[in-house]
Amino acid sequence: MKKTFFITTPIYYPSGKFHIGSAYTTCLCDSLTRYKQLKGYDTRFLTGTDEHGLKIQEAAQAAGKTPQDHVDYIATLAKDLWKFLKIENDDFIRTTEQRHETVVADIFEQLLKQDDIYLGSYVGNYCVQCEAYFTPTQLVNGNHCPDCGRETTLLKEETYFLRLSKYADRLLEFIDKNPDFITPETRKNEVVAFVKSGLIDLSVSRTAFDWGIKVKSNPKHVIYVWIDALSNYITALGYGSKDPSLYEKYWVKGDEVLHVVGKDILRFHAVYWPIMLMALNIPIKFKLLAHGWYMMKDGKMSKSKGNVVYPEMLVNRFGLDAFRYYIVREMAFGNDGVFTPEDFVQRINSDLVNDLGNLVSRTISMVNKYFDGTVSDTCHNHEYRKFEVELEDLSKEVVKNYHQAMDEFKISNALQEVSRLVARTNKLIDDTNPWNLAKDEALKPVLASTMYHLLESIRMITILYRPVLLDSCDKIFDALNVETELRSMDKGFGGEKIHYHVEKTISHLFPRLDSEKEVEYIKSQMNSVKEKIVEIPQKSEITIDQFDAVDIKVGLVVEAMKHPNAAKLLILKVNTGERIRQVVSGIAEFYQPDQLVGKKLLVIANLKPVKLRNELSEGMILCGDHEGKIYIIEANPLLEPGSTVK
Ligand code: ME8
Repeated sequence: MKKTFFITTPIYYPSGKFHIGSAYTTCLCDSLTRYKQLKGYDTRFLTGTDEHGLKIQEAAQAAGKTPQDHVDYIATLAKDLWKFLKIENDDFIRTTEQRHETVVADIFEQLLKQDDIYLGSYVGNYCVQCEAYFTPTQLVNGNHCPDCGRETTLLKEETYFLRLSKYADRLLEFIDKNPDFITPETRKNEVVAFVKSGLIDLSVSRTAFDWGIKVKSNPKHVIYVWIDALSNYITALGYGSKDPSLYEKYWVKGDEVLHVVGKDILRFHAVYWPIMLMALNIPIKFKLLAHGWYMMKDGKMSKSKGNVVYPEMLVNRFGLDAFRYYIVREMAFGNDGVFTPEDFVQRINSDLVNDLGNLVSRTISMVNKYFDGTVSDTCHNHEYRKFEVELEDLSKEVVKNYHQAMDEFKISNALQEVSRLVARTNKLIDDTNPWNLAKDEALKPVLASTMYHLLESIRMITILYRPVLLDSCDKIFDALNVETELRSMDKGFGGEKIHYHVEKTISHLFPRLDSEKEVEYIKSQMNSVKEKIVEIPQKSEITIDQFDAVDIKVGLVVEAMKHPNAAKLLILKVNTGERIRQVVSGIAEFYQPDQLVGKKLLVIANLKPVKLRNELSEGMILCGDHEGKIYIIEANPLLEPGSTVK
């Protein structure tokens, strides 16, 4: 039977568009999942949105929407973004779903009944942003929040408390007995110090607002958003429901469970969550990976500073694999990473373009030039053998280190190992000078041996890059005509005697980036984010004189389907440069969905989003009509998605 691996991201707050920070955690989880799959695990990958609480209620109010409409809209953004990044999550949980709300309400009642939760009252300084109370000694600069620095509000409320104090010793004992419960070690030490400093019972209900799950036995209280949110990891598996089979399989009887979180929410996961599980008599099956943050040179990413970077912009310009590679490679394990346009371009140019791309294209062209594309390993005894042995030895070492790093969730380190192998393989070309060998017919078998080693090494490198680089690895395998069986991790490095027949060329693997131009491009996009925030167009009705207020963009249709409940409507997913948006359009009588996929259309991008037969529409595509038939207006194919039509 296959071993199981259940992995989760935090469920993100639907407060706005998702930046590269949330994309980092999600890509990290996706790559770890793909790695485990390649190793033969039965995996389950969960992500979702954390949709209750005062912060969301206030964000909805500010946007002039009901909380439900607001979270519906942002959950769509999240789902679309993850699809765009080829994230292969098996489930997406929203805390406003009934499957979650019912079970959380039951969990609360159970804890109340067994006296792990009790009613009391609380006076304290509350931070709306962090949804947490702070004691006077924790506050900074008078009454400001120690976590986010915002001003707190003094609140007094009747509230339920969770008896954290009762479980403190058991938690410490658990951490002690499970030394790899929290990675990295430094984070574990922080948690232990926090618990040892004394746990005070946690306020777990609110009466000041109502956007949350109501306490069944006392509905003027809503359940504290963290009790609600943390439970997602088991409610999504069907815990407490009619069908708990996934919970049994991946949690209770499961082999590995990993919660990946940023260091900002470590305490919730390392203290409150295990205590909840202890109180519920549920085994603590999970390990915690607490990673650092992506920062900007001038500190945290923030919309008001205008230093926010969105994944869509980088993917549209540089390709998905380049983005996925950068994001998991650049952040060193346990530390923060700093995003700069310069580092981004440099990382892609050096690792992917110069080292990997060059190696692959040089090798393919030499194998074609010297052997018409066909090579096998026939010659073992020659003067360059020592270089090949060095390469073979290094590859064994790299594979070992790679797996060790991946098994410790240190993706960046694992990728560094692969880079070592890429460099060493490139060096084989310098060591053997194939163009000189080619001049002497007697040395042809030696040249073949070199080529064979280059190809084998590229095959190994590609196997190791697979969890991170998606299309590029397929492209390389295809160019080398590597059989499916030889693409898998367990078939990797046994010195397989492969007969290679490679394609003539490999095109556009990683196009070289003009550093200066690309750095300028990223900077200009970051600035335009700032400008857009200052002047969000809100007009819902325009006249001809206001034409220039209409934001018309070129949009590429990436997906199209029939509306499930309206015969005249199609649902389109359109890439308008900054993101993928959903547009519902009344053209179903005139177009089949697959006629539209791949077409570049014109989209009014600043129309107020509306729901059409329950489906969100965030824009309108431009059409013309002729004799009663509607025709879409296509853009010039040279225009990129997101180009503004003036
Ligand atoms: O905390 N760098 O949601 P959230 C790296 N709803 N990672 C970052 C990041 C950055 N700059 N910014 C955000 C919540 N993240 C709760 C979670 S779970 C039961 C409830 C990532 O939307 C990182 O993983 O604020 C961080 O922990 C998470 O997003 C916070 O997401």
